[in-house]
This record gives sequence, C-alpha cells and structure tokens, in this order.
Amino acid sequence: MASSRIAVIGGDGIGPEVCDSALEVIAAAGVELDTTSFDLGAARYLRDGEVLSDATLAELRSFDAILLGAIGPAIGDTRIPGGTLERGLLLKLRFDLDLFINHRPFHGQPGSIAEGCDFIVVRENTEGSYAGEGGVLRHDTPHEIATQGSVNTRFGVERCVRYAFELANSRDRKHLTLVHKTNVLTYSGSLWQRTVHEVATEFEEVEVDYNHVDAACIYMVERPSRYDVIVTDNLFGDILTDLAGAVAGGVGYASSANLNPARTGPSMFEPVHGAAHDIEGKGIANPTATISSAVLMLEFLGHTAAAAKIGQAVAADSSEHAGTPRTTVEVTRAIIERLV
Ligand code: IPM
Ligand code: MN
Repeated sequence: MASSRIAVIGGDGIGPEVCDSALEVIAAAGVELDTTSFDLGAARYLRDGEVLSDATLAELRSFDAILLGAIGPAIGDTRIPGGTLERGLLLKLRFDLDLFINHRPFHGQPGSIAEGCDFIVVRENTEGSYAGEGGVLRHDTPHEIATQGSVNTRFGVERCVRYAFELANSRDRKHLTLVHKTNVLTYSGSLWQRTVHEVATEFEEVEVDYNHVDAACIYMVERPSRYDVIVTDNLFGDILTDLAGAVAGGVGYASSANLNPARTGPSMFEPVHGAAHDIEGKGIANPTATISSAVLMLEFLGHTAAAAKIGQAVAADSSEHAGTPRTTVEVTRAIIERLV
C-alpha cells in the first residue's frame, strides 16, 4: 500500500525521544511512513509565540495521522500561562479535527494490580468540562465569580456511546460499563444514562453495567478485572485513565488514540503520560506507551500485519522485563529484536 503520511509532533520533555523510538520500531517492522516533523510545544512558543496557527492546523489536516509525544511546560515554569499549550494546542487539535473518541486500552503488566486484565476506556474527547464553557466576573476582587460548565450534547454523547457499544460488541466479553456521577450531576448524568439505555437496544448481546465514578476508582484498584469496556465523559475519563495506567503497571505503558472514526481528518496517537521534563534527555524514558500508540495508529491506517507484529513484540517485551529499569534505547532495541 502507498506509504501513509504522518505528521510527527514530538513536543516537549521526553516527547521527541519516545516518538523517535516508535518511528524506529515502525521502520524495523518494514512499514515505510512518509513523516514530517512539526516543531510545536513549549520550546516553540517561547521562541516565537506560536501555539498552533491556522496555517499549521490546515497543513496538519492534510496528513493521514498525527503521532504526538507530549505537550506541556515544565512544572513551575511560569513563563507560559497555564492552559496556553493544553487548550491552544492539544485540545485545539482534538476539537478542531473532531477527534471525538479518546480510546485508551490497558493491559495489566506482570506484577501490577491489574495483572492479566485487559480493558479499554472510551473517553468522550470534545465536550464535557473541557469544552471551555464559563468565565470570570470581577476578576481578582473579593467578589470574583468563576464558572466552569460541562457541555454534553445528545449528538456528542450518542456518537461516543455508540462507538463504545460497537467496541464492546466486537470483544469476547461484550461488557460495557458507563461511569458517571448520575446521583449528583443529574442533568448530564441523565443524558448519558438515557443514551446508553437507548443505544443498548441495538446491541442485545452487550451486557451493560453502571458505576459512579468514585466507586469506579475503588473497583479499579480492588478488582479491575470487572471491566471490559468503560465509557465515560471527558473529565472522568481523564482521571480514570491515569488511575488505570497506574494499576496496570504505570503510565509508561498506557497508549491512546484520539480518533475521528468518521475519518473526516487525521486521527492523533499519543501516550497517556506527559512531558516528564525531569527526565528529559537522560535516555531513560520508557517508550513503550508511544510504541503502543503507534500500534494503534498502524491498525487504524490499515497496516494490520505490522501492527499485530509490533503489538506482540511489545507484549512479550513488557512481560519479560516488567519492573526492570531500562534505557529508552534498550527497550527500543529489545522490541526490534523480537520483530525478526
Ligand atoms: C491527557 C492529558 C491532557 C488532558 C492534558 C495535557 C490537557 O492529561 O491527555 O490525558 O487533560 O486531556
Ligand atoms: Mn490526563
């Protein structure tokens, strides 16, 4: 097949290192990608003020997919106001490219709480508290008012729920858990709950469960094996996937796909972890999460055989070396050796 055109946004901290590793593994698996690097993130912003211009966004739209390392300034770096890069770059890409599904699979590593578990969190990725509804009145006075709403549309909830049902239906267990807080967030909770009930009628084989998000945090730690597919809103999904990453062996293993399943533009693939500026350049970042995100990218682009081959190599490598500190190069080489 023609080589896919990939925009690579290495970004900040360890982002570029882990992206390089993933691209090396893909090349070693025999997939030729036509890659173009985009210099975006904290360093770029500090240099010339660009977060994500309309021209750059238009250019990114023409690619088949985006591979992203990590975006974000170092903790305590006061030169960049909070949210500048998160809202202006990462969330802008998710929203403007209509990447409405954040698909986050977890495979419990040996020795982790979730050892042997295999579940996926489907996080709504364009609405909820991330939509930016709200504002400030009487800023910085004793009477300041800050509101931050949560936007939940029937359209947005339904397309996310439908994706989750289709996914659950394609899996052996066919089990779907809605996670929300319907006992307190009664307006949005009701919309999510009713939508799940309605879409469920089209998927008779899928067993449906519901957990409040606080209880889900307990179950995630105490018995993660209960989960197969979880569907949840943007903020709950953000929090729950960090927890899931931790119980499954660490966020160094957690991959994600920001998907536009309608394929009206490129989808974006990135590890769940952040820029980890504290270990930048030390060569010790675990590239596994990014390599696994690249596997999701290859699958989505139809490079099915290579995706399966790399996926198996990653799984074998992780289970053999779980818990052993290794350098980025060691992990990359070990995975490549398993490809031949
Ligand atoms: C994630 C990250 C982002 C989010 C941040 C960096 C804006 O935590 O991808 O989970 O909150 O979605
Ligand atoms: Mn997060």
